[in-house]
Amino acid sequence: MSIGLERCFLFDAVEDSYPVTGITGTIPEALRGTYYVNGPARFRRGDLCYKHWLDGDGMVCSVRFGADGAHFTNRFVQTRKLQEEDAAGRFLYRGFGTAFPGDRLRQDIMLEPPVNVSVYPFAGSVLAFGEQTLPYALDPVTLETRGEYDFNGKLNQISPFAAHAKIDPVSGNMLNFGISYSANQPMANVYEFDPDGNQIRRRRYRLRYPHSNHDFGVTPDHAIFFLSPLLMDFGKFWGGVSVMESLCWQPELGSRILIAPRGPKAEAFEVMAGQGYCLHLINCFEQGKRMVIDILELESPVYPEYQTIPTCSPRSVPAGRCAT
Ligand SMILES: [Fe+2]
Repeated sequence: MSIGLERCFLFDAVEDSYPVTGITGTIPEALRGTYYVNGPARFRRGDLCYKHWLDGDGMVCSVRFGADGAHFTNRFVQTRKLQEEDAAGRFLYRGFGTAFPGDRLRQDIMLEPPVNVSVYPFAGSVLAFGEQTLPYALDPVTLETRGEYDFNGKLNQISPFAAHAKIDPVSGNMLNFGISYSANQPMANVYEFDPDGNQIRRRRYRLRYPHSNHDFGVTPDHAIFFLSPLLMDFGKFWGGVSVMESLCWQPELGSRILIAPRGPKAEAFEVMAGQGYCLHLINCFEQGKRMVIDILELESPVYPEYQTIPTCSPRSVPAGRCAT
């Protein structure tokens, strides 16, 4: 591992806001607007260091390009988890890859999220997303946290809500999904909200297995899921181990593509799709009666490659290929 990568986990991130200086040349006039990125930024408190890249508390960074130059801002997402742990001076909640004695969960059933995965401008705010939970709304300029965003009261603290929402480029609607991990009947929930955050519809689709799913695709008429045979065992999780330790890779079950109509009438259907693993889709679109789904397919899951901090080294990531 290089020293540079190791430093990502060992420094104390500080919040700041300043003009970017030292720019050589001229920022093109066509380049106007703000670039946002979210990612994990705090991995240690006291004697406890998180084990996994996905454990760290979310910090959003922005670079705003205007006629007066570029301006950088970064702030932690002021989650309930962060505020309680700041007050306590130690980690209190279980992480994605780190469980510890006495760790806490949200309502004793799910992670209290670090909100460290993604960020999307929407409905007058910037929404920072974690995995399987409501996003937090931030001020688009200062990045100050406004609070948990519940889509005008439609969702709640335990609504399943994934981290890679999609914006419909025509309507401006936001679509997202969330997996309900019922032991008897896991379901994929698909939500659609108008540009003001009002829920237009929520549909539920039965799943054969409790798939751990991180991303999905959207076309004008469908939501598409590549359901890899990486299954979440909540029995293990509630027994005290991390999410990482609760995931079970079962390639013998095969992978499936679930095609779920966005509209209210048509039924969903599945297509078997080998035994590969897909963390992120690349693109989905429809050409007449033909649907094209582009994915990055790996031989097996990659989550184990991102531990144990700070000596993890994602050099053994399994071979991947673009598949259509
Ligand atoms: Fe992702």
